[in-house]
Amino acid sequence: MPEFPKKFLWGVSTSAYQIEGGVVNDWSQWEKSDKRKKELQKRGEKVDEYVCGQACDSYNRWQEDIDLVEKLNCNSYRFGLEWARVEPEKGSWQRGEIDHYRKILQELKKRNITTVLTLWHWTNPLWLKHKNGWQNREVVKDFSQYTEKMVEELGDLVDYWVTLNEPMVHVVNGYLIEKFPPNKKGLLKANKAFRNLALAHQEAYNIIHRKYPQAQVSITKLTNDFQPARKWCPLEKAIARAAHYFWNDRLMKKIENHLDYIGLDYYFHNRIVWHPPFRKNMNKKVNDMGWEIYPEGIYNVLKYLAKYQKPIIILENGLADSEDKHREMFIREHLEYIHKAIQEGVDVRGYFHWSLLDNFEWAEGFWPKFGLCEVDRKTFERRMRPSAKTYARICKNNRF
Ligand code: FCB
Repeated sequence: MPEFPKKFLWGVSTSAYQIEGGVVNDWSQWEKSDKRKKELQKRGEKVDEYVCGQACDSYNRWQEDIDLVEKLNCNSYRFGLEWARVEPEKGSWQRGEIDHYRKILQELKKRNITTVLTLWHWTNPLWLKHKNGWQNREVVKDFSQYTEKMVEELGDLVDYWVTLNEPMVHVVNGYLIEKFPPNKKGLLKANKAFRNLALAHQEAYNIIHRKYPQAQVSITKLTNDFQPARKWCPLEKAIARAAHYFWNDRLMKKIENHLDYIGLDYYFHNRIVWHPPFRKNMNKKVNDMGWEIYPEGIYNVLKYLAKYQKPIIILENGLADSEDKHREMFIREHLEYIHKAIQEGVDVRGYFHWSLLDNFEWAEGFWPKFGLCEVDRKTFERRMRPSAKTYARICKNNRF
């Protein structure tokens, strides 16, 4: 049975807004807006299912979450801070909220769990939204000040930093296809947000390193595997190459000198066709959201990222699977390809499954079930799915 390198990080990932509950930020405002409600009603959806509300109540149940991380035999946990909690008004730092996150980090340390902390996972305090969020160059300074404060307050307890989660998703969903707040369409706006996100990361990287020269800092990069549907078709090959550049490589090139490791998120394999919708699913296996299940894709993206010559930690990989029909196989098959990449010399240091819990899946609401553990929507009770037990065995044995 294939074994993973010694000290391999086995973990699970979560994000603040998706699990904490009771947050007021740009997303919580948007999801309750009339425009959003009308749009959901038109689709015949229950609006409540698309409002984050109490989420998984992890703000109060974070200890239970850590118990689950331990039950899964994970030696690492990735979670996030909610910027709007610690700085609800510009410059007004909330002692209680900072201490809350300190307690979580301390508890993880006490239990010998490696900490991976995300500073920003798409959501923004309202004051930032009111001054145009990531389109406004000032955000670079705002994010730097936030980072500086968090480094000062929490830095001694953080093993790996994730400054920004999947910046390209914010750019595309927020400024090109109007799926996420701020829902402001425009190429120029998208480009500004892209530039500011890259700059904010670079600044944050420097700030963290000034205080902790040995710190491990990255973003999470959602890296998609783009392949032409027909290998012989020059047009499809060209489109796949362009998509790879714009989605994967452009940002990497911009920040490669500000990365100690690469945080990889892998979900998507796209076969490109030359006509709309430019994508074709040639694989019969899909998850509950219709996303193609293609484990070989993780091997392809690992091989691509190897050119940056940095350690890689897979910080998200998972699927929506309410009946837990595919999850076990999904994990095994992805691990097989990860192992193959390691055998071929790619420096992969860890695997974090998305997610620990069923949680609030952004614009899709609560119906997609990504959790290794189910969460009762009324009582918030957590229950391990059968696949979680398999994952726990893998983490314990360091082999699959
Ligand atoms: C990723 C996000 C994460 C979750 C998964 C399914 O793109 O970072 O928050 O929504 O997708």
